[in-house]
Amino acid sequence: MPYPVWHETALVKQFKAQLCESHDLGNIQENTKILRTFGACRKTFGMYDIGKKELKAIEKVLKRGHFFRYGGKEIEKVEREWAEKIGVQTAVTVTSGTAALISGLQALGIGPGHSVLLPGYTFISTALAVTSVGAIPLYVEVDDSLTMDPEDLRKKIRNHTGCIIPVHMQGMPCDLSPILAIAAEKGIPVLEDCCQADGGSYRGHRLGSLGAIGAFSFNQYKIISCGEGGACVTSTPEIAERLYMAQDGSCSVWPETGEMSQAFFCGGNFRFNELNAAMLRVQVKKLDKILDRLRKTRAKLLEKLDLPEDCQFVPTHDEEGQCGVCLLIQAPTVERAIEEEERLAKAGHKVHRPINSGRHVYKAWDVVNARRGGVHPEWDAFRHPKNARIATHYDKAMKRTDDLLARTVLLHTPYEK
Ligand SMILES: Cc1ncc(COP(=O)(O)O)c(C=O)c1O
Repeated sequence: MPYPVWHETALVKQFKAQLCESHDLGNIQENTKILRTFGACRKTFGMYDIGKKELKAIEKVLKRGHFFRYGGKEIEKVEREWAEKIGVQTAVTVTSGTAALISGLQALGIGPGHSVLLPGYTFISTALAVTSVGAIPLYVEVDDSLTMDPEDLRKKIRNHTGCIIPVHMQGMPCDLSPILAIAAEKGIPVLEDCCQADGGSYRGHRLGSLGAIGAFSFNQYKIISCGEGGACVTSTPEIAERLYMAQDGSCSVWPETGEMSQAFFCGGNFRFNELNAAMLRVQVKKLDKILDRLRKTRAKLLEKLDLPEDCQFVPTHDEEGQCGVCLLIQAPTVERAIEEEERLAKAGHKVHRPINSGRHVYKAWDVVNARRGGVHPEWDAFRHPKNARIATHYDKAMKRTDDLLARTVLLHTPYEK
């Protein structure tokens, strides 16, 4: 079966044009210039607080000349430090947040015959991780906070549901208490997608520590960053072993891995490297300071913001634990939301309506929605006989999600040093 030719959509063209406009990296030659470039990067390209310490850490590894996971020092240390920060037994670093989600699903034994429930507002990677292991992503409505709605979650559970992925979008904790209760009642594991919420918490527990596994991203746009990177966390030893196998199928030959209590499976290669790990270690140390600044700025914004009477601020499911990256304003109608978006933009705020955030909205997950996501005609979750009983309904609109994403204005918190 031939694959369809990929055409650049208008959306992709527009995005590329924006990238070219803003991505002026200048002449990277000396440290001072690099640092200045980092500053410029932050305005347009993520990364809250990158500077000399990161540079020094990377330089140290460069001088040491050992970049590989095994035999190195930085990865082992950052994994210990990240596990400690999140309050879990084990952290396993990988190359990206997507790799963390894929490894997490593999560790949980998800594959053909399973559906995985995830919200209609998340980056497409969450859904693609599911298809990549041969399972079927099914969408759950969001609530006012734009995270997974527990009521709709309950309605969507079937006997083929293999995993639930609540996503802490924009640093906002999901309504984890009912989500975890439903999951426990039905015996379904929870894989928390914390890619946009590094360091956030829910009722005093760091995000990622309450589900069976937490998955994190450290790409350029995340709360802490090393350019590209990710991690899985867990406190279940059997899952930790499977995470090691998933991140490196050949880890059995390295003495560092130690003895495994279970048979190896054919894992892949999402191995992290020492350079990124060195940078990430500095970022992990900065994490709480970054969160503190973001939360304080958000609180000031909230105090100062003069909202019209018909619009309201939407509280998150944990106002202390949310990461402070944004605040949500809900308008009574889409028209009023557009007006409010324009008014706030004119006043100098960085705002958008989540409905316009491209691949973060289920409607734009075209490869999934068209059920043509297979890497090969014979290795395609949507053609797998074991998945034939799983009804997808991708053509059916999720009215509540559509409405909330269109009526909400998301205001980004500026990072104030
Ligand atoms: C919610 C969510 N999940 C998963 C990912 C994937 O992370 P990465 O880009 O590191 O693969 C992202 C990244 O943007 C994300 O925002």
